[in-house]
Amino acid sequence: MSYDTVRETDPAVADALEGERARQNDTLAMIASENHVSEAVMEAQSSELTNKYAEGYPGERYYGGCEYADDVEQLAIDRAKELWGADHINVQPHSGSQANMGVYLGVLEPGDKILSLDLTHGGHLSHGHPANFAGQVYEVEQYEVDEETGYVDYEGLHEHAEEYEPDIIVSGYSAYPREVDFARIQEAADAVDAYHLADIAHITGLVAAGVHESPVGVADFVTGSTHKTIRAGRGGIIMCDDEYADDIDAAVFPGSQGGPLMHNVAGKAVGFKEALEPEFEAYAQQTVDNAVALGDRLKEHGLDLVSDGTDNHLVLVDLRPSHPDTTGKDVEAALEDAGIVLNANTVPGETRSAFNPSGIRAGTPGLTTRGFDEDDCREVADLIYDVVEAPHDDDVVAEVGERVDELTDEYPLYE
Ligand SMILES: Cc1ncc(COP(=O)(O)O)c(C=O)c1O
Repeated sequence: MSYDTVRETDPAVADALEGERARQNDTLAMIASENHVSEAVMEAQSSELTNKYAEGYPGERYYGGCEYADDVEQLAIDRAKELWGADHINVQPHSGSQANMGVYLGVLEPGDKILSLDLTHGGHLSHGHPANFAGQVYEVEQYEVDEETGYVDYEGLHEHAEEYEPDIIVSGYSAYPREVDFARIQEAADAVDAYHLADIAHITGLVAAGVHESPVGVADFVTGSTHKTIRAGRGGIIMCDDEYADDIDAAVFPGSQGGPLMHNVAGKAVGFKEALEPEFEAYAQQTVDNAVALGDRLKEHGLDLVSDGTDNHLVLVDLRPSHPDTTGKDVEAALEDAGIVLNANTVPGETRSAFNPSGIRAGTPGLTTRGFDEDDCREVADLIYDVVEAPHDDDVVAEVGERVDELTDEYPLYE
């Protein structure tokens, strides 16, 4: 894709866009929530649909001229239903956070009670953190992972639910490397007559490909992002049974959003079509295999993984046992200098701050899109380890950077 036309109008933005393309081409994107979409998805996202108001839903719009908007949204919905098998799917949420907002607004009253995983244990801001609207409008208590095992403490969650009697239990996480037992959480929700929202933002693609067990048909509501383990461009989705369809749709529009971003809905439609191809299942499985290979090699180097490994697309390294004087931010910064982009992350039982935590989170969706396999990911683990050992050694960082350059040349991304 060329930015020549942008350049004619706005060289400063063209410089930034080209800079970002070069950055993505020349670095290893290992932020677990990021991926690289196809040129087809990007083309759809930059289409004339950005001009179109289409408030409402296919066939029931508040504006004229919506025939093509209807076509695109219906395609996105139909493909999403094929991917995830839900009765009803709303593809309009602008993001995963907006999807969660849609569920809360759809079925909760202000002051109702949310029970969700603590942010420092892998939860998400939109699950009721005080800095997010959900923490301001609803009452929130949080459950935790077992700090010994790193797994969700399902028993503790169940007991907590019986004491707290929440209106909704939120499952699905941001920094949790293990498969989630949605059925077990549903048991707790049933025991206290609470709704269950399964937020599969991170594993949307793994669930679509059948690589992870699906909460669809188990939880009352399933929300997701469309740009993490599935490559359909930035956005969110909500899935539910038909009985909740009207409440959810009304909570998205007009409850919390205006006109849908139809160009992004077009991107979702294209990305969902790509995910229905047989190759996507192989991609999702490879993403997991790569994360397992990455994690195993980091362990061989003596690093400590939360939960001792991974079932999904990410690993969470607790630096404290092996490198007590090194923080996640030290490692994040040095790795970025070497061209490996991941993020510092809190770990269960965090003893530092959320801003300068004790862990790093590394994901494989982006590397897998580039074509990396297990051997490549083992080598990436070696490179990460070299930097963890010597984050302030410029020679080590430069050497790792040279190998990253070779790897990115070997696996090109965007033209
Ligand atoms: C579990 C979870 N839910 C929701 C979100 C929010 O997604 P978005 O950034 O699209 O709003 C994230 C983002 O990483 C997440 O990890």
